[in-house]
Amino acid sequence: MSYPYQLKNFEEYQQAWQHSVTDPEGFWADVADHFYWRRKWDKVLEWNFKEPDVKWFTGAKLNITENCLDRHLGTLGNQPAIIWEPNDPEERHRILTYRELYNKVCQFANVLKNNGVKKGDRVCIYMGMIPELAIAVLACARVGAIHSVVFGGFSAQSIADRIQDAQASLVITCDGAFRGGKDIPLKSVIDDALMACPSVKKVIVCTRTRTPVSMLKGRDVWWEDEIKQVETMGNPPAPAEEMDAEDTLFILYTSGSTGKPKGVVHTCGGYMVYANYTFINTFQYKPRQVYFCTADIGWITGHSYIVYGPLSAGATTVLFEGIPTYPDAGRFWDIVDKFRVNVLYTAPTAIRSLMGFGLGPVNHKDLSSLTTLGTVGEPINEEAWHWYKDQIGKGKAPITDTWWQTETGGIMIAPLAGITKEKPGYATLPLPGIQPILVDENGNEIEGNGVNGNLCIKFPWPGMLRTTYGDHERCRTTYFATYENLYFTGDGCLRDEDGYYRITGRVDDVLNVSGHRIGTAEVENAINMHAGVVESAVVGYPHDIKGQGIYAFVITEKKHHDLELTKKDIIQTVSRIIGPIAKPDKIQFVSGLPKTRSGKIMRRILRKIAEGELDNLGDTSTLLDPAVVEEIKQGRL
Ligand code: WTA
Repeated sequence: MSYPYQLKNFEEYQQAWQHSVTDPEGFWADVADHFYWRRKWDKVLEWNFKEPDVKWFTGAKLNITENCLDRHLGTLGNQPAIIWEPNDPEERHRILTYRELYNKVCQFANVLKNNGVKKGDRVCIYMGMIPELAIAVLACARVGAIHSVVFGGFSAQSIADRIQDAQASLVITCDGAFRGGKDIPLKSVIDDALMACPSVKKVIVCTRTRTPVSMLKGRDVWWEDEIKQVETMGNPPAPAEEMDAEDTLFILYTSGSTGKPKGVVHTCGGYMVYANYTFINTFQYKPRQVYFCTADIGWITGHSYIVYGPLSAGATTVLFEGIPTYPDAGRFWDIVDKFRVNVLYTAPTAIRSLMGFGLGPVNHKDLSSLTTLGTVGEPINEEAWHWYKDQIGKGKAPITDTWWQTETGGIMIAPLAGITKEKPGYATLPLPGIQPILVDENGNEIEGNGVNGNLCIKFPWPGMLRTTYGDHERCRTTYFATYENLYFTGDGCLRDEDGYYRITGRVDDVLNVSGHRIGTAEVENAINMHAGVVESAVVGYPHDIKGQGIYAFVITEKKHHDLELTKKDIIQTVSRIIGPIAKPDKIQFVSGLPKTRSGKIMRRILRKIAEGELDNLGDTSTLLDPAVVEEIKQGRL
């Protein structure tokens, strides 16, 4: 097996990019030709960014699992598809070949059918990082159900919000999950969530931790029992449901600057082509290499670059249940050593945290198998980039700093590892098919090099979001209304003298904490739900390891005598409403917030204070109560 559309050198990259701009339909049709379609498309692309209405490969029929599984069986049946490394290094790892994974996905597809799941139904998946999570995702895709995976770190309330929004009819979960030294009681969280979710008729529970769980008669069933039933039926075949290229494949919720998280919708055909193309080209993956992405399948990185991208390419993908620091800070390097990992894809926050442990955990680990390194999720500082390059890649492995988003479905701007130039801190150049543009506040294009602006994309690509679930208008206003005829990313960006792109961070009220997107409004709403809180304002501040930390300014009714306790209570409330990932790092009690005369909070000032730039607050004279700024400055944490 080889990849006819894998670019091999800089000239090929340049030609491909040119081709993708002058003849986008021809370019993507050439790529898409290498997949298995039940029926080919009538038209490659129809689009407008006004409504927006974007369709790729219209009229085409396919099932993504036939591309991830069936088509490999003849050639790669005995190749490892998934290598699973458990949380506890003493426990045995598991290897699923393509044949085994195929069989398991088919079995579970029949379980879903036996439990009434039909094409188009929404299924919520809330599981730890075990092979059954990938199996559940693929089985949904096989029967044409729309999966909505919720990261294991979200609270019952957050899950309930997502289930209600998607009107999911079935939930797949585990009794619990192992993460480092902790057991997370997933089923019990689901039980709490489901009190507010009448749409859910069935819950399938996979055994992992053997934590005691309550099983509701008529609603809850065990994964293992259901599989046995399919076996008793003689493991009937599980033909893949024929899907339209534009049928929804999955919903993934993500935070924005306002309101509750929105369900980003990706469709079958374009997403498949894009996840595969970007996987093969960005990482320069070669057949039989071992590829390890450390993300969780609960995020887009896991969807595109643990499951769909690698499997559609017939790759061997490592799935790791645990965390980088358990049982010690050498765990990633042990895994690289154990499985002779060739490609490692992780987050800057993990690199920074591991860097903090020095070289002890790295020494004496054999990392010589590594040919390619990747990062994703947030800007990487130069120090971390060089440490990754020198200590992990031993100076030999190229690093690809990949910029993209939940909404983009796949990598957008990144070096093609070893093929195009890398530059510390830079995502560098757009992938073929991607046309970035920088604009000023008024939407005017900023041309030339050595310039800064808001990053937009001016032409559709197959992996882009199609809508936000149940609320198309929200999709339009969030991404397509800020600047006419452009997709707005929400990121600020520099294009340097050489034309290389460097992402400078969000320009909206979205935080990026350890590579996780969190809306400031969401955190404020959660804080405001705590008894006694009058008002709050949340901003980000630079954090050595997390990239950004969460700084909350809070007004309480009357100053509680035990402020430390109140802080803990607020943190507990945020954990309950959103999840532990949104806990504020700092809480400062204030008597007022800097507001304009029209009552708008001046976050710019709070951000500067949180960042420690006290002498550089700009004009505060237009504030309703300028004195409050002085008080906040004095009380800064
Ligand atoms: C940020 C993650 C700098 C960015 C795949 C974006 C990055 C948001 C990078 C999307 C990078 C992602 N350099 N910033 N290489 N990659 N970001 O939806 O602000 O969880 O808008 O998708 O993360 O986060 P999301």
